[in-house]
Amino acid sequence: MDAPTTASAGSGAEGDSGAWSWFSPSPAKSPERPAETPEERDPEPPPAAPDDGPAGVRADETHGAAPPPRRAVPPAAGPAPESALEASLRTPHSDATGASGDALLIRRTMTEIEPVAEQVTSYFYALLFVRYPELRQLFPVSMDEQRDRLFKALLTAAQRVDDDASLTEFLAHLGRGHRKYGTQPAHYPAVGECLLGTLSRYATLSWDDQTEGAWIRAYTRISQIMIDAAAEDEVTSPAWWDAEVVAHELRTSDIAIVTVRPDQPYPFLAGQYTSVETPWWPRVWRHYSFAAAPRSDGLLSFHVKAVPAGWVSGALVHRARPGDVIRLGPPTGSMTVDHTTDNGLLCLGGGTGIAPIKALVEDVAEHGRRRPMEVFYGARSDHDLYDIDTMLRLEHAHPWLSVRPVISSGPSSGALNSFSGQLPDAVREYGPYGEYDAYVSGPPGLIRSGVDALVGVGVPSDRIRHDALEELVAAGE
Ligand SMILES: Cc1cc2nc3c(=O)[nH]c(=O)nc-3n(C[C@H](O)[C@H](O)[C@H](O)COP(=O)(O)OP(=O)(O)OC[C@H]3O[C@@H](n4cnc5c(N)ncnc54)[C@H](O)[C@@H]3O)c2cc1C
Ligand code: HEM
Repeated sequence: MDAPTTASAGSGAEGDSGAWSWFSPSPAKSPERPAETPEERDPEPPPAAPDDGPAGVRADETHGAAPPPRRAVPPAAGPAPESALEASLRTPHSDATGASGDALLIRRTMTEIEPVAEQVTSYFYALLFVRYPELRQLFPVSMDEQRDRLFKALLTAAQRVDDDASLTEFLAHLGRGHRKYGTQPAHYPAVGECLLGTLSRYATLSWDDQTEGAWIRAYTRISQIMIDAAAEDEVTSPAWWDAEVVAHELRTSDIAIVTVRPDQPYPFLAGQYTSVETPWWPRVWRHYSFAAAPRSDGLLSFHVKAVPAGWVSGALVHRARPGDVIRLGPPTGSMTVDHTTDNGLLCLGGGTGIAPIKALVEDVAEHGRRRPMEVFYGARSDHDLYDIDTMLRLEHAHPWLSVRPVISSGPSSGALNSFSGQLPDAVREYGPYGEYDAYVSGPPGLIRSGVDALVGVGVPSDRIRHDALEELVAAGE
């Protein structure tokens, strides 16, 4: 993996701008158009990267992503009747919501490309890797279903151009997280050029000079926020942490508790998660929640379930051994305890979703306040409650804590005072919980049904915390 950049904000982007001179962090600068069409620079369809895995960007995919022919110049007189799509794409002048002209132009492009988003994504990456082959090595060998995340985030950010606070929070976080990929300021113009090259090819009905200007301004702002955040982060944090596996305990045939020692102090909060890269699958990063509150010895632990054919989870459960070194990205996530209130805490953890809940219990215990805490721990069967002994030990040690196993299918032994059914049913059974802050952790289906049930038993939705659903869905959870 490339070393992280040491260039300060903006310098790399401007200093290296040569071939990418349309990109400039200065909004006053009048941008040059990107290359007219991809064919002008890339007469051949983009070839496969030599190391592409089975799901990499391949020539055959690129053919599949062949853009539609560019729109013919419309006749000077006698216009044909306007189609519904064309009508919705007419140059916007005003908007009842007060959205800026740029935001409206950007939304117009989005409306047009949405039906062909998959082809647009394939074309974008093909263009990027054929024009800038040196960037291919930053990405995983096999770019599977997650490859559309970069492109989606670009579009999400471009849509939020009118919302300064939310845009900055989203992008600053993303910019810091990109340090672990080896992303440098000079890479941003390349991505921007290929983004515009792609949009201009596919948004044939709405693309014009005004729209292009709006996208250039938006992308310039997006990249500047990411570049600045990365540069600022560099002063205090490494791009990633190396962490040696110091313990590996197989709890079931497919769940392991992996404990690691980071090479430098790793600051995080109970309830957060990080990204992990293993030595066996370079540049493949996956998220895992911390299974314990910060410890005085600096060790971190994760509960990992090996999913069928899972690259990283399979390696962590079946291959990792003490002495192996993995990499950790920065901590993230807002499923943390609000210590400014005395509200009770109601926690739903399904499967390895119990890991961050256990960290929350430890966090509350360390703060020494006797806030009522109710944990519902869901699994398919008693056997799948791989961490029930720890949870019951915690319950025994803390009178303010109640732990209730919830078994969804198969007979329950009953020995654990367990509830038979789904986690949301258990919450409905034991509610109401009006004076509680709630935490839900597990697969996206559980989060959705859990949030519905929590709202149903009186927990206001702004007091329900869970990890980002988009991330979990992207993870195939
Ligand atoms: C915020 C967050 C926190 C997470 N915390 C944890 C954690 O603490 N412990 C943990 O074990 N995992 C956790 N995950 C899931 C983890 O990030 C990976 O997605 C998971 O380990 C699979 O990665 P992989 O590389 O092994 O599988 P991949 O190679 O990405 O996937 C292989 C195949 O399995 C499918 N698949 C992926 N996940 C599942 C699943 N859960 N069940 C069935 N099929 C699946 C994929 O769609 C694909 O077809 C978390 C995810 C997020 C977003
Ligand atoms: C400027 C706007 C950019 C946006 C909005 C963006 C967004 C994203 C997002 C959302 C992801 C998914 C994983 C994550 O959240 O970290 C991602 C991954 C990635 N991005 Fe970016 N990115 C941008 C620029 C760049 C640039 C300039 C590079 C360098 C070439 C780059 C390289 C990567 C790499 C290597 C990955 C990992 C891919 C993977 O794991 O499959 N990104 N990006």
